[in-house]
Amino acid sequence: ILPKKVTIIEVGPRDGLQNEKVFVPTDQKRAFIHALKQAGFKEMELASFVSPKWVPQMVDAEEIIESCADFKTRNFVLVPNEKGVQRLYASKANAVAVFVGTSDTFNQKNINKRTHESMVELRPIVRGLKKKGYFVRASISTAFHCPYEGKIPEEKTLSLCQTFVDFGVDELCVADTIGMATPKEVYSLFTKLKTAFPDILISAHFHDTRKMGLANVFAALQAGIDRFDSSAGGLGGCPFAPGASGNVATEDVVYMLERMGISTGIDLHKLSDSLDIIRPFLSRPLDSAYINIIEKG
Ligand code: HMG
Ligand code: MG
Repeated sequence: ILPKKVTIIEVGPRDGLQNEKVFVPTDQKRAFIHALKQAGFKEMELASFVSPKWVPQMVDAEEIIESCADFKTRNFVLVPNEKGVQRLYASKANAVAVFVGTSDTFNQKNINKRTHESMVELRPIVRGLKKKGYFVRASISTAFHCPYEGKIPEEKTLSLCQTFVDFGVDELCVADTIGMATPKEVYSLFTKLKTAFPDILISAHFHDTRKMGLANVFAALQAGIDRFDSSAGGLGGCPFAPGASGNVATEDVVYMLERMGISTGIDLHKLSDSLDIIRPFLSRPLDSAYINIIEKG
């Protein structure tokens, strides 16, 4: 049985922009985010408190968060370490995403630590965040495949998720970082996750590298998932995952779900207005069927 409604977590301002090589002016990021809010998103990943040496695009994260302080929405910021936590505490973000890769090689390239070292560091961080009342999501990268280590066994991802649940996170966001998972793998892993963690929010984060994003959304829906990350315009990609392209495009996910009678609460016209704002500042074309169809008239 498919859900009647789903929550879409718009990750365009964070995953979508972090891979843009040319700096997008802060004012344009703000205007983009405000337009996305008008389109109806209740949860968004807005920025990352990471090292600006590693991800220069996120250098203005404080200003971005400040400008969204009065949103009555769940505003996520990515935080990799204690320094990120201190920046978070000084900000008005109300939700946090910690992130780790299942594979040591990817995690080392992304946050300069082995997976186990990251988990040792994150344990007190998550506890501290929960004590202060933040909503905490754990993003699990390379949950299916790693660009360096290949196929990841399900048990490895499940075990990392179990550790995060033991830490006390509110949500597991399980990611196909390089867009290599098939619907069969997606259905299998998410079915196991739902069974193992019935009391915790679970979301799916798909990159569309091999154009399996929508099929994977459908497979996850069938496994009982009702929370999806996606990025307006199909923007996105992790700078430390070679070959990763953008996230599955929000407008295509919304279109598919609404046509299936599953409510998303998102206004597609307003979503497309938000893309008009950011598009002139991007170094790559938007990538979604919805936008292509509008453009061809
Ligand atoms: P490091 O070089 O090992 O860190 O990087 P360090 O502790 O040695 O510090 C080096 C310098 O960075 C120091 O500055 C620190 O102060 C500074 P210096 O003394 O040289 O002037 N620094 C920071 N500055 C600001 N904010 C911070 C911070 N931490 C240290 N939080 C580090 C380790 C984790 C910092 C680095 O590797 C990093 O920033 N990585 C972030 C990578 C990233 O953002 N990746 C993309 C997000 S994850 C993703 O996209 C996947 C996801 O979408 C799901 C999926 O699709 O899989 C979520
Ligand atoms: Mg991603």
